[in-house]
Amino acid sequence: MTLWGGRFTQSPSDSLFALSRSVQFDWRLAPYDIAGSIAHVGALKRGEIIPPKTADALINALRELQVEISDGRFAPVESDEDVHSALERGLKSKLGDEGGAIRAGRSRNDQVVTAFKLYLIDAMSTIASEISKVATALLDQAEKCVEHIAPGFTHLQHAQPISFGHELAKHAVSLERDIDRINDWMKRSNLSPLGSGALAGSSLPLSPEVSARELGFSGVVRNSIDAVSDRDFVAEALFIIAMIGVHISRIGEEWTLWTSTEFGWATIDDEFATGSSIMPQKKNADVAELARGKAGRAIGNLTSLLTTMKGLPFAYNRDLQEDKEATFSSVESLLLLLPPLEGMIATTTFHGEVMKKSAPLGFSLATEIADYLVRKGVTFAHAHEAAGHCVKICEKANKELGELTDSELRGAHPDLDGGVKEFLTVDGAVASRTAPLGTAPSSVRQQITLLREDLSKHGNWISRERTRISGMIAP
Ligand code: ARG
Repeated sequence: MTLWGGRFTQSPSDSLFALSRSVQFDWRLAPYDIAGSIAHVGALKRGEIIPPKTADALINALRELQVEISDGRFAPVESDEDVHSALERGLKSKLGDEGGAIRAGRSRNDQVVTAFKLYLIDAMSTIASEISKVATALLDQAEKCVEHIAPGFTHLQHAQPISFGHELAKHAVSLERDIDRINDWMKRSNLSPLGSGALAGSSLPLSPEVSARELGFSGVVRNSIDAVSDRDFVAEALFIIAMIGVHISRIGEEWTLWTSTEFGWATIDDEFATGSSIMPQKKNADVAELARGKAGRAIGNLTSLLTTMKGLPFAYNRDLQEDKEATFSSVESLLLLLPPLEGMIATTTFHGEVMKKSAPLGFSLATEIADYLVRKGVTFAHAHEAAGHCVKICEKANKELGELTDSELRGAHPDLDGGVKEFLTVDGAVASRTAPLGTAPSSVRQQITLLREDLSKHGNWISRERTRISGMIAP
């Protein structure tokens, strides 16, 4: 069924209908569209645009449809164009012509943005909640690994020894930023477009502010032309998901590396690992690899929407229907990934003794020599030079910095004495970095505590949003 037959003498060709049909993917919007419709019927009733009896019948029928959709009794059919036309068919099958009364004062243009916003508010708060669980799993592991000493890398070369808890907690920091982004997005996107009509607003006495309040929006959009054309809220959500994808891809990459035979720093629990069809010994980190891989799709979906939007005339154009599949793909693939990612992180075993063995390798303590000299008043350029000289000696003699003799040290710089050796242990180097952001175990513990507090603050708005939306779409 289409919603626009009146001025045509022929029905649409099958090929056009197949092209424009979106119900096969936008059916996901049904519960949100019904919530928007219930608010719209309320506005029609308040404005005395339709008789109260009709309004009540419409609301009852919409509520019934909500139930029938959730238990599978009502579903789209071949001839439905999109979610909106399928639901109107449902209303008409219950109420006859009276079902069409809902159309007054509303266009699919404001209708679709309303439903899509509600869908995304639901999706983004669910994502925030799932991300918070992943961050918590990282912090739990970080807490257990605070005393593990590992080599820290720059350029994927040994740089300086660090607490492995520090290494794990850093991922929770970027994920907390993502949750904060969702919170910002929520504040900016939470304005109701309902009442914008096709583009110019309505001549009927609707009350958009009241509908907005009923739908849990914090207010009404400023401008109806912008409102039906605006997909910033979609693009921003797709960016946030892409950013999360990038962060998670870096978790995936580290897990893949750490669990390799060469590293041997970690073992993934059997429950979250896969085998090979040909090599019986294999244990693969597929969750980590999919975590790494999914970012490609998320970035592609963001790019696809921005490209659709570029240069697009105002107000509604059918191009805008292309916003949905990209969004559903980004949202759903992320929500599929987060639970096993959390499981993999939570159940991984870390091997502190293996990390510690490689922590001093690659002369990762050379900075300690330079810092020692700086504390003695040597300028950093000279101190750096002297530490470099020590590395050269060790490389030649095939030994570690801690094994340098007193005369070798003095040869590198007259102020360099045996006292430096106290700092040439990985534990000493890690313990000395005590600024709150640093890698000393005490600092890392403090970071973990503060991150947990941040996550728990986010937990408040996340559960508020989730309760609001689930109450609205509950059958
Ligand atoms: N299915 C359409 C979409 O997703 C709904 C809006 C159609 N509006 C219109 N004027 N043709 O964008």
